[in-house]
Amino acid sequence: MTTDGHTVPRTGNGFIDVTHAALMDRVGTIRRACARGAPRDAVVPHFDAFVDEMHAHFDHEEVIIRAAGFQRWEEHANQHAMLQQQLVRLVDYVRECEVTGDFLCTVAGTLDAALCRHEIRHDGEYAALVRTASATPEGRELIPWETGFELGIAPLDAQHRQLADCLNELHRASLDQGEADVAALLEQMHDHAQAHFAMEEGVLRSVAPSRFVAHRAHHQALNAQFARVRQAVESGRLDAGVAARDFLRFWLMDHLLGSDRVAFAGGSDTRQ
Ligand SMILES: [Fe+2]
Ligand SMILES: [Fe+2]
Ligand SMILES: [Fe+2]
Ligand SMILES: [Fe+2]
Repeated sequence: MTTDGHTVPRTGNGFIDVTHAALMDRVGTIRRACARGAPRDAVVPHFDAFVDEMHAHFDHEEVIIRAAGFQRWEEHANQHAMLQQQLVRLVDYVRECEVTGDFLCTVAGTLDAALCRHEIRHDGEYAALVRTASATPEGRELIPWETGFELGIAPLDAQHRQLADCLNELHRASLDQGEADVAALLEQMHDHAQAHFAMEEGVLRSVAPSRFVAHRAHHQALNAQFARVRQAVESGRLDAGVAARDFLRFWLMDHLLGSDRVAFAGGSDTRQ
């Protein structure tokens, strides 16, 4: 429930729903602080945190909807970019200019209304598809390995399979709610992912240098997404099962069937 009484519908993906709720909480904090006349210097850090959380949310949501097969994900990403540009400009103005308390309240209300409008209207467009894709599988594996995932480059395929194994182990640990150290499993998966990215970049640099820089930048974004989710689990703000089932599953599928296909499908530069 927002401060204006709107209800943001659940999308059926626990990770998205948790981050929607956290963003609305942040907006609520800002609106209450502005309403009680808090000085600008006290409110600006909350505005900055809002911008950082919004950016991360849009980034993560785009991974999920792309991997879930939402055909209009690029249109949705454009909506994110426009909203981000609009709201960042407002927050920059608040940070850099002497503004009145009334103006702060107006900006806070604008953040609330613009974000709600997006989550209710635009996020609703992918909700049915994402809800289906986010269903918990019947077995104990989130990603049962398929030969269709393979690129045909044995060392990379072995590492991709190892990442899927790590994720499945994390999922099982969250189902069992036992003694398994989910933080250690997350750390292990993160280490494997970083080693994998380094190796993959080495292969790509030698076979297709024209695609190397863009793919390395993509890996850096993937690494930042993983690090942020890992930190949220380790600090107790995010359930490990939700992280595995509703974000990392999509993160890995997007890597396996999306960006790596594009990077390696064209073969070597010399064969083009
Ligand atoms: Fe969203
Ligand atoms: Fe969105
Ligand atoms: Fe890659
Ligand atoms: Fe890869």
